[in-house]
Amino acid sequence: MKVTLIYLSLSGNTRKVVEAMAAALREAGHETRTVALAAATPEDARSADLLGVGTPCFANRAPSPVRAFLRTLPPLGGQRAFVFATSSGAPGRVLADLSAGLQARGARVVAGFIARGEDSYPCPYLHGMYPGRPDANDLTAARRFAVDLAEHVSVDPTAPFAGSRADTFAPTEHLYSLVGRVCTDAMLRFLEPKPQLDASRCDQCGWCARACPMDNIALEPYPLLGARCVRCYRCLNGCPKEALDASWRFADPVIRLLYNRAFLRWFGDLRPGERLR
Ligand SMILES: Cc1cc2nc3c(=O)[nH]c(=O)nc-3n(C[C@H](O)[C@H](O)[C@H](O)COP(=O)(O)O)c2cc1C
Ligand code: SF4
Ligand code: SF4
Repeated sequence: MKVTLIYLSLSGNTRKVVEAMAAALREAGHETRTVALAAATPEDARSADLLGVGTPCFANRAPSPVRAFLRTLPPLGGQRAFVFATSSGAPGRVLADLSAGLQARGARVVAGFIARGEDSYPCPYLHGMYPGRPDANDLTAARRFAVDLAEHVSVDPTAPFAGSRADTFAPTEHLYSLVGRVCTDAMLRFLEPKPQLDASRCDQCGWCARACPMDNIALEPYPLLGARCVRCYRCLNGCPKEALDASWRFADPVIRLLYNRAFLRWFGDLRPGERLR
């Protein structure tokens, strides 16, 4: 089969999963392409026998640039597809968002997969949670999922795939899926702190403007953040001079409440005995 994996990855976790899946699919004899979202075209999606779309989970849902890309796809006419994500334990509606976006273009979504990813959300409480994930076990699970799914689809695409996540098509309605529902981009801009520039550190290298998935940073000549920010913090996390920062004085206590260990167990993916740090 021709398999195409289109993905967004801002801190590298989802890319590791994509590379693991692609290597395993190629070993199993499937012609496999990986395409980063910024370079993806609608034709990339249409030309595959099996399309995979992967993303990090942001604010308990699929990030805005991925949902926007899915809206640009042409009618997919029953094309088989699967969805996958990396998340730090509170995936909410991320898979269901991807499935809904693909189904709206006519794709037949057959399965979903999630791997744990080290958290790069910059507030002190969450930053660095689940260090080293996805780890070797996570990547083995990703490889197995991809190969088993490709085999399943080539044999009987209409039968349900046993290895799929239960929340692939509809999230369990609870705290995190609710947060994901209300977290529109405008709400994120209102609730979460905006990255602020310390011009004395900035050397105007322009990396942040190139890396912003919303094309929201103008260099004048210092970076100026526009109105399309979705608070992904890619610019803040990746600036080589650490010239961008944000104040977590108000957000950090709220985040501690929302993503405590008990809530992550009840409403998220945290398994008994699994360590946060
Ligand atoms: C801005 C931001 C928001 C996030 N929100 C969530 C979330 O709501 N739920 C969750 O489980 N993980 C969340 N995460 C963690 C990421 O989903 C996780 O680190 C993911 O593996 C990142 O993938 P990437 O390295 O491919 O970008 C968030 C991370 C960032 C940076
Ligand atoms: S990446 Fe950092 S140093 Fe480079 S232009 Fe942006 S803020 Fe300045
Ligand atoms: S300006 Fe920074 S935080 Fe806002 S969308 Fe762009 S990279 Fe993300």
